[in-house]
Amino acid sequence: MVYQVYLRSFADSNGDGIGDLPGLRSRLPYLAWLGVDALWINPHYPSGGADGGYDIVDYRAVDPEYGDVSDLEDLVADARRLGLRVVLDVVPNHTSDRHPWFQAALADPDCPEAARYHFSPPSDEPPNNWQSLFGGPAWSRTPDGRWYLHLFAPEQPDLNWRDPAVAADFEQTLRFWLDRGISGFRVDVAYGLFKDAGLRDNPGAYSPTLFGHGPEQAMTWNQPEVHDVWRRWRGICDEYPDTMLVGEVCLADLEQVALYSRPDEMHQSFSFRLLKSSWDTAAFADAVRSALDVFGGVGAPVSWVLGNHDKDRQVTRFGGGAVGTTRARAAALLMLALPGSPYVYAGDELGLPQATVPDAVKRDPIFHRSGGARAGRDGCRVPMPWNDSPGVGFSPEESAHPWLPVPEGWDRYAVSAQARDGGSMLTMYRRALALRAAHPSLGSGEATVSTQDSVLTVRCTGTAETVRCVVNMGSETVLVGAPGAVLLASTTRVRGSLGSVALPPDSAVWILED
Ligand code: GLC
Ligand code: CA
Repeated sequence: MVYQVYLRSFADSNGDGIGDLPGLRSRLPYLAWLGVDALWINPHYPSGGADGGYDIVDYRAVDPEYGDVSDLEDLVADARRLGLRVVLDVVPNHTSDRHPWFQAALADPDCPEAARYHFSPPSDEPPNNWQSLFGGPAWSRTPDGRWYLHLFAPEQPDLNWRDPAVAADFEQTLRFWLDRGISGFRVDVAYGLFKDAGLRDNPGAYSPTLFGHGPEQAMTWNQPEVHDVWRRWRGICDEYPDTMLVGEVCLADLEQVALYSRPDEMHQSFSFRLLKSSWDTAAFADAVRSALDVFGGVGAPVSWVLGNHDKDRQVTRFGGGAVGTTRARAAALLMLALPGSPYVYAGDELGLPQATVPDAVKRDPIFHRSGGARAGRDGCRVPMPWNDSPGVGFSPEESAHPWLPVPEGWDRYAVSAQARDGGSMLTMYRRALALRAAHPSLGSGEATVSTQDSVLTVRCTGTAETVRCVVNMGSETVLVGAPGAVLLASTTRVRGSLGSVALPPDSAVWILED
């Protein structure tokens, strides 16, 4: 299991209210105890601060707020001793507008750095109809009237990957971190990088309700040239043993997503369907089946995602309160049974709901650029609760306020409280991960998916055994015929007798078949 660490919100070592590398390092024993195999750290680089670190100023450094390169090396060394690997985030689609290249390009339109971005001469209208994912046109003006492209915030100018200097520089960046012992990269916006060579209009408009980008944005994303970048990056990783690339590929067509994890490209590309499915048997069954088929078709493991730093927390997505929590537990058991690589977002193992963050302290450009119409992503980025002290143990006692406020009462989700509670979400995750490690049919079996009414069943068959994961997504208790032993259930209300199991609504069970 790969555990996603939102660095700024994980653990603060020096009391400035900002999570940092030494803080994360001090919490590595927790991750080892939980049963994590690897951690992926959201961007740790010096940044302009416009998009949670995804606007990078220097790709070969650590933001002083988080520590320095030697802190990262110490983290990697400690992690390795505990059997944990460290995966970094890399952001090749765009830089910060404060990056030295963009600053040079602002000062001199004819400098070589200017060719590394998409500039267009002054004119009344932007060069095409492309929209920014964060709202508004994807083109802004420089002080001297030129247009420049930014598919995200204006502080994130898109790089021009048709300039070979861009590719060469990123290859140096990869080696810089690989030489420091990291185990690979999560590649941001891996479906981006190249744009239509003629910058032609998109045939349709951006729709936030789609699974990802489709033909309506054919000119902006998923240009065929991008695959050669992943082949080159794969070649570099292959020089370093046991390293991997996982791509963020938000495309509507799953077949296209899977192409990014062909054998000579990235090792994995995220499968976001579960993350985007509502609590519905058919939607979940389709998400699982299609991912197994399509990624299986290119020989790549499926990377399952139920939560990340860009989406509302599962507990809230699945209905909130007790219902949302019950469902999130069941969804976790389903994900952890499936063959492939599950990704768990920090705090999901505690059942954190989406936090209410007051508008006045929100940071997310999605909130600000939509004039408040879109809530933004701050609510899934608040600090981790570690204990029941007033500051929930995020910072040392008597420290500054955390960079985003921790909601009142969040000590009830704290690691310390859940670790001693045999019925907590945390205990369930830990048991599930231990069983997954002990039973190869879980996590690396052959899976077959079936549904009956509101019940979803995945049979996971390994060489020596079969484990069935049954999820009741309906509103009535169902009797599941179960010749076998219950390994784990998402709720203590699961009862078994005479070869059958009574599975309450919104719950899941793992049954080791006789
Ligand atoms: C990815 C990141 C997101 C970021 C965006 C722009 O989607 O996950 O957090 O805002 O890229 O870099
Ligand atoms: Ca700090």
